[in-house]
Amino acid sequence: MVFILYKSSVIILLFICQHLSLQNEINIYGPGLQPKKIVMPARYFFVNFTSYNGKYSSTLSNDFAVEIEGTSIKKSHCRIWVNKLDRKDGTFIVRYKVYDTCLDLNISLYYKSKHISGSPFNFKGPVQPDQCDCPHQHFETWLKEYGCPSTYEQIEHDLNRYQDLDMKDQVKKIIKKYHKPESTSFCHYAVNKNQIYRKCYGKHVGFNMFSDNILLFLSRKVILPNMELVVNLGDWPLVHKTTQPFPIFSWCGSDDTVDILMPTYDITESTIENMGRVTLDILSVQGSIVHNWSEREEKAVWRGRDSRLERLKLIDIARANPSLFNASLTNFFFFKDKEAEYGPKQPHISFFKFFDYKYQINVDGTVAAYRLPYLLAGGGMVLKQDSPYYEHFYNQLRAWEHYVPVFRDLSDLKERVLWARKHDDAARTIAQNAQKFANENLLPQHIICYHAVLFSKWSKKIKSEVTINDDMTHVPQQKFSCHCDTKEIPDHIEL
Ligand SMILES: *[C@@H]1O[C@H](CO)[C@@H](O)[C@H](O)[C@H]1NC(C)=O
Ligand SMILES: *[C@@H]1O[C@H](CO)[C@@H](O)[C@H](O)[C@H]1NC(C)=O
Ligand SMILES: *[C@@H]1O[C@H](CO)[C@@H](O)[C@H](O)[C@H]1NC(C)=O
Ligand SMILES: *[C@@H]1O[C@H](CO)[C@@H](O)[C@H](O)[C@H]1NC(C)=O
Repeated sequence: MVFILYKSSVIILLFICQHLSLQNEINIYGPGLQPKKIVMPARYFFVNFTSYNGKYSSTLSNDFAVEIEGTSIKKSHCRIWVNKLDRKDGTFIVRYKVYDTCLDLNISLYYKSKHISGSPFNFKGPVQPDQCDCPHQHFETWLKEYGCPSTYEQIEHDLNRYQDLDMKDQVKKIIKKYHKPESTSFCHYAVNKNQIYRKCYGKHVGFNMFSDNILLFLSRKVILPNMELVVNLGDWPLVHKTTQPFPIFSWCGSDDTVDILMPTYDITESTIENMGRVTLDILSVQGSIVHNWSEREEKAVWRGRDSRLERLKLIDIARANPSLFNASLTNFFFFKDKEAEYGPKQPHISFFKFFDYKYQINVDGTVAAYRLPYLLAGGGMVLKQDSPYYEHFYNQLRAWEHYVPVFRDLSDLKERVLWARKHDDAARTIAQNAQKFANENLLPQHIICYHAVLFSKWSKKIKSEVTINDDMTHVPQQKFSCHCDTKEIPDHIEL
């Protein structure tokens, strides 16, 4: 026993000597370093060199290397795709996607070909791909292991008016009141024994793929409580404050309504399809930044379609002040008659091009502009139009801390840009705060947690039994062969 202790302390000593110059200086953190417990489509973690070499230099990207390897059930290499994103400020984001069950995952991080800060990190696993239908048995335990907070202020606010609901009765009343096929579309979901069923109402129900996806995603990770919910598939919230409140889940809230908020389908899809079908997400934005703050043009940039009158007004302001703005409309639909005046429509530019500029403008579209999360992440200063519309995280944002507020009619927009030009340090601080906020609240882990906590709390508000009506459609998981239980893994693999 003594011998073993002695031996291991020698190893520790050796380890400390070898890594002394780097330890505590390179900060490595993120949910991607708990690959067994935190299953995501794309796992990610941060590697922060800031206090190690002080200033960022462009050679850092060449000197820093990542290798992620593992052994599959069949004893061959796991298929893993690694993506290193350079924030160009001394911090890297490493993302990796595993395509099959991995048993012995090694994450190796090198600086100038030498291991850094405790690398390689070894995980016996199993490390499962997102598609595995291997739900954890206990929701509360899973929430903790996944790193989710116990609640969110917005969720408490949205749910506190409901208790002991008889969902059979509620759904009947919701259908009666809101089923207007030409103008509203919504789905009634029932989750029973971790299976998902739905019946949709309305003419345009294609967006149910988004609500399907998040429910399927979660039910692969954890056994969901039985529950019923009604999800509004339109942009506009439905439940007016002045009417009897029915529980309807929506992607956008407003000052006049009391819908229960979910993260928008946009950011949810960018979470579920990270390193997949969707290429714009909070992580890729940070990895696609070309210019640091001081290199960016001191102008406010905007592109978008004509979905609100203020967007035309923005074009007027920009045209009158070409030295302060670069703004144009990319499509005409709502104000086709104004195309001659405000057009011609300009080609789309890559979203990442927005960050060639110091200031980004966020003006409502039909409702809140769902691009705000990505703007916050881009390291620029966001000029945000005052708005009655909001998303699930807006109540945590503070004006002048995370963004610069602009009157709804944009009458002070020019003044705000002039202010930012004059107070470059303050503008930059707001930009940094915004990016920090995005990294602490809007990354895939946070979006998943928000849904999970919401559904956990929601299920407790329902007192009626959840049954599946005959006219509901089962929403199945996609077929994916997976070894959920290590007991199923053949003997010859050492774990
Ligand atoms: C990186 O570390 C520095 C210094 O410790 C800190 O100021 C900065 O916020 C960190 N950045 C990120 C993205 O973690
Ligand atoms: C992971 O690292 C351990 C220890 O360095 C090594 O024994 C093992 O072979 C590595 N596994 C893979 C799959 O590379
Ligand atoms: C910004 O980039 C320029 C050019 O690459 C560089 O000279 C400057 O030091 C950078 N500024 C900061 C604060 O990193
Ligand atoms: C505005 O941005 C576009 C795309 O980056 C660029 O081609 C154009 O020259 C810019 N216009 C002005 C006036 O700076």
